[in-house]
Amino acid sequence: MSVKIKIRSPKWYEGLDNVSHRSYLRAIGFSDEDFAKPLMAVVAAWSELGPCNYHTLEIAKYVKEGVKEAGGVALTAPTIVVNDGINMGTPGMRYSLISRDLIADSIEAQINSHGVDGWVGIGGCDKTQPGIMMAMVRLNIPAVYLYGGSAEAGWLGDRELTVEDAFEAVGAYAAGKITEEDLKRYEYSVFPTYGTCQGLFTANTMAMLGEALGLSLLGSASPPATTGRRRAYAVESGRALLKIAELGIRPRHIVTYDAIYNAAVTLFATAGSTNAILHLLAIAHEAGVKFTLKDFDEISRRVPVIAALRPAGPYAMQDLDRIGGVPRLLKKLYKAGLLRGDVLTVHGETLGKLLEKWQPPTVPETGILFELDKPYKAHSGIRILWGNLAPNGAVMKIGASDVLKFEGKAIVFNGEAEAFKAVYNGEIKPGQVVVIRYEGPKGAPGMPEMLKVTAAIVGAGLGDSVALVTDGRFSGATRGIMVGHVAPEAAVGGPIALVEDGDRIIIDGDAGILKLDIAEEELERRRKGWLPPKPNYVGGLLAKYASLVSQADKGAVTTPEPLQVDY
Ligand code: FES
Repeated sequence: MSVKIKIRSPKWYEGLDNVSHRSYLRAIGFSDEDFAKPLMAVVAAWSELGPCNYHTLEIAKYVKEGVKEAGGVALTAPTIVVNDGINMGTPGMRYSLISRDLIADSIEAQINSHGVDGWVGIGGCDKTQPGIMMAMVRLNIPAVYLYGGSAEAGWLGDRELTVEDAFEAVGAYAAGKITEEDLKRYEYSVFPTYGTCQGLFTANTMAMLGEALGLSLLGSASPPATTGRRRAYAVESGRALLKIAELGIRPRHIVTYDAIYNAAVTLFATAGSTNAILHLLAIAHEAGVKFTLKDFDEISRRVPVIAALRPAGPYAMQDLDRIGGVPRLLKKLYKAGLLRGDVLTVHGETLGKLLEKWQPPTVPETGILFELDKPYKAHSGIRILWGNLAPNGAVMKIGASDVLKFEGKAIVFNGEAEAFKAVYNGEIKPGQVVVIRYEGPKGAPGMPEMLKVTAAIVGAGLGDSVALVTDGRFSGATRGIMVGHVAPEAAVGGPIALVEDGDRIIIDGDAGILKLDIAEEELERRRKGWLPPKPNYVGGLLAKYASLVSQADKGAVTTPEPLQVDY
């Protein structure tokens, strides 16, 4: 099959001027025949420093097969990974969100310097995926996203485990509820294979949204990393790349306002990770699409939760896979009129057409997916809040017991480590609002996740009896009444910097309010006395990032504008 679409490679590899370029590729085995084909890259976020992207180079081989079969030539070009489950503490977790933008930047640098005609991006952990999706719309040459797949769920006795059980077991041990021996059992049981964390945490949320956005093949998010079907999707993704290249379909044709709208509906209908809001804002920014917290707010109020996936419910991604995966969920939403069908996908067809054709397996969905008129939970798992404590917005994660309102007295910590110590030492009492600040995009920098402290709160049995407010982020595995992404953050003088111990804080997910219940004059008095803190870092990547990054309500991005592209 001859493919006519060679978008950029001729500039690099044709003509007498480019003899040296051709000789570089001849050195790695290129023939005349290869030069006649479109040059495709397979960008694998790859690292052995954790299970999530351990196998992506192996998957890349199958993608290359698909590209080859469809008439292209493919070269692997890895990018970095910061493993979200391991990079805890300081400075580890500070590199997590930063790595998203670093990945997007590294892909831009590789793809734009080598005259590639199209690419498939393979990602596993939390930040590799939005980083790759941002690069897809930034570069706007034909591209397909492929997820590396989640790990198989663990088992302890007859209980299915995901990684959040390990975090919560630490809290339970600290509270004297389980023994050291029990804790060890979790260590050996929660993560039996390579792949990503197994619940609908950030990695699986972003993989699911890849399908909803149309950037990845329908059905490709849910097969576990270890399955043969993942390899089949890899071959298929390679073929799809050539198909959309021939059709002239580019990522910005796919990622429109309506596509992001569909992703937001899917996110709320599944109580997916709050991090996805940050990432969708960033993807919209790179694509030049205006999609704001107001859009998320409007959608979140109409969409109930119809999936019982962890952390909101008991099931793992592999359980959703068993009943047909993400398409089964999307079809339900589409049939109910909640999704916009007239959006393009990497199949070269619209999402609506694909979902009309898609037939679920005969396996019943009972307990995993629910009907919209009899949902799993009446409220979406996320609400957007505004108020004098978050003038530019904050993101609320609704607790396991569906609590939408909480009022309590603040107990304030300038950083997560202090807060964790307090929980661990039993200093947090029911009815308190734990405020953790100076953990925002610029302040920390990198907006670290509060998983350790939130898991410790749950593990200590405080669950929905305390709330947490922070300018940092949460892990997708976080449970409890959590308000994060508070903007502006403390480090730039946001009102969260002015909270004092004992202040009353009102959280109202129904009304969309996050309020510090003190007089405006008192707030003003405190504001006048506030001094910006010294930066935590003056050198290296963390300092560079802090000087560039935007606030959470803008996606915490480091590029001022979408890249101008002439194709
Ligand atoms: Fe990579 Fe959880 S640590 S997905």
